[in-house]
Formats: sequence, structure tokens, C-alpha cells
Amino acid sequence: MDPVRAFYADHEDLVLRLEELEGLCRRAEQGSRPVELAAPLGAMIDRLRDEVDVHSNREELGLFPVLRRHPLPPGLLDILLGEHEAIRGHVHDFAAEAGLWLGGGHSAAAAWIAPARAARGLLSTHMQKENLLLFPVAERVLTADDRQEVADACARLEA
Ligand SMILES: [Fe+2]
Repeated sequence: MDPVRAFYADHEDLVLRLEELEGLCRRAEQGSRPVELAAPLGAMIDRLRDEVDVHSNREELGLFPVLRRHPLPPGLLDILLGEHEAIRGHVHDFAAEAGLWLGGGHSAAAAWIAPARAARGLLSTHMQKENLLLFPVAERVLTADDRQEVADACARLEA
């Protein structure tokens, strides 16, 4: 698959994951207890952390270095990098608080729901920005050799 198409596809997977995350937030707000959410919330912690890492690493190590060789909207990559950092922070907080809640360390689900929703909100607008601003630029400026370089870098990250 063309690497830019692959980035769009990754985003579609993440959008589905974020909908599942919101579903877990609602279940907790409606009174589900840790024992009832242990399996899906435990799985969500691992998957969201992994998928956000994959998203960030593929872009930061695969796409952005190649894109930097081309003219881009000023500051765009730095804004997106800053957002990656903030998203990682929210996901880290969600994982830590949800882990505590599942283990009985504190009773308020709000402690993990807040960072979960912060991660969802920022990741959603971040991906829209990439879909609408960054990837169309990438489609326009990347040469065939560039695309191969991005695809190879992404493949190495998965190895
Ligand atoms: Fe990104």
C-alpha cells in the first residue's frame, strides 16, 4: 500500500478505538464497576498505548523527516509533534488512573475518564488536521523515491 494511504487507514483504526474508549467512559459513568470493566478496560489500556505509539513513531521517524525536505506550511510539523507529546501524556494519565481504578486504588472513575476524553478530543482534532492539511501536502510533494523511503522506515519500525 502507498505509505500515505496507509496513514489514512491507521487513522480510521484509531477513530474506531476512540469510539470504543468513549463507550467505556459511558459505561463507567452509568455505574459499571471495576470488575465488570476489567477485561475491556485492561485491553483498551494496552491497545491505545500501543496504537498511539505506532501512530507517533511512524510519523515522527518515517514520514516527517522525509517531508522536512520539501516546502510545507510553516510550523505545521512542530505543531503536530507538540500534539503527539500532549496525546502521549493524556494516554499515560488515562492508563495510570484506569489501572489504579481497576486495582481498587481509588473509587472515582472520573479520574481516568477525564484524561481518556482529553486524549480522545485532542487525537481526533489532531488526526483531522493531518487528514486535511498534512497528508494532502504529502500526496503532492513526495516523489516515488520518498514514498519508498517512508514505506521502508515504517516497515523497519514494525520489525
Ligand atoms: Fe500524528
